Formats: sequence, structure tokens, C-alpha cells
Amino acid sequence: MNDFAARLVAWQKRHGRHDLPWQRTRDPYRIWLSEIMLQQTQVATVIPYYARFLARFPDLASLAAAPLAAVLELWAGLGYYARARNLHRCAQAIVAGHGGNFPESAALIAELPGIGKSTAAAIAAFAFGERGAILDGNVKRVLARCFGVDGFPGQAAVERELWALAESLLPAADIEAYTQGQMDLGATLCTRGKPRCGECPLRGLCVAERDGRQGELPAARPA
Ligand code: ADE
Repeated sequence: MNDFAARLVAWQKRHGRHDLPWQRTRDPYRIWLSEIMLQQTQVATVIPYYARFLARFPDLASLAAAPLAAVLELWAGLGYYARARNLHRCAQAIVAGHGGNFPESAALIAELPGIGKSTAAAIAAFAFGERGAILDGNVKRVLARCFGVDGFPGQAAVERELWALAESLLPAADIEAYTQGQMDLGATLCTRGKPRCGECPLRGLCVAERDGRQGELPAARPA
């Protein structure tokens, strides 16, 4: 395994998060719901919404059968309501197109309404152990810093470079711990404002830490 992946996996197993409500299951419905809620919302905010949502809609069939208004009501306060509309549309698409069974590969999951490549890979990794790269905002920051990738990650060429890097770093095993580890590192140590490099498993490997460029990487949107 490459050094980056090996360090992340070992760190996640020891120091990462293991008891979040969506981590104790392989139910793709529950994992999918968590990943959609977590897209623009922090863990602590999501937890009570997640519990209420599952109490009301315990499975895909109950969500697909519900009126959109009932879904939006449970979403009220979480923001980014397009996520709730897409969630409802996805549930109906899975009932109509997959016989109600959650699609079991990242490629099929990515065809659902409003699910991007990274979210599809995360769901497939956690639910099915499928090996695939993720690239959300946190992971972009970790990769840009560790490998000294210059340029604004929102720019197409930079994003392509980061995707290629993410693909090249995938370990052969432990994809769940590796995927969760990237998210955990970006959320807890490799934060935007004040990264805690002294505790980071990537210390010694990380270009930004070596060169004191944590504040410059990832590069800001050009003016
Ligand atoms: N953010 C996105 N996905 C997450 C997950 N599975 N756990 C914690 N934070 C996340």
C-alpha cells in the first residue's frame, strides 16, 4: 500500500470516528441518506435530523411512497432543499427502475438524480466495500496540501489533476477505513483555518507542512 493510504488507514482505525449513527450499518439506504445530509452540513447538526428522518422513513419504500411535502417538512432547518427533492426523486427512481433495490455499484448509483461521482463512490465503499476514489471539499484540501497541488481546485484542470491523484492513491484493501479516514482527517485535523499538523499522520509526507504552505493550499478562487 502506498505511504499516504497506509498512514491514513492506520490513523483512521486508531483515531478516526467509528460510532457515528451511519457507521454501524451496511444498509445502503441509511448510508445514502447520511451522505446526502452530510454534503453541506456538519456531523453534529445532521445527527438529530438523521434520527428523525429514519424514524419517519425507515426504508426506501416508505420514502418513495411519501408526499414530497412530508420529506421537506423533516428537512426544514437543514438547508439546501434541493437535496431533499433529489432524495425523494431518487427513492422513486429506485422503485421504478431497480425494483426498489438500492443499486449496488458506484456506476449505477451515480446515475441517480443529483448524486455526483464522489458521493456515489462513498456510498458504494461504505455499503458494498467497493474500491473507488472520493473527492469532496475536505479531500481536495488534504490532497492539495499533502502533494503540493497548486491552483484553485474549482478549476477544471486542477480538479482533473486531483481526481487522477485520488485514483492513483487508492489502496487495494481497507477501502472503508481509507474513505472514512480522508473525511475524518479533513474534518478534524486538516481543517481550513488552523490545521493541527503536529498530530497529523501525514507529517513528514505533507508538502504544505514541510514548506509552511498550509495557509496557501489549496489555492483560493482567483479574483
Ligand atoms: N461527511 C461526508 N460523509 C461523511 C461520513 N461518512 N462521516 C463523517 N462525515 C462525513
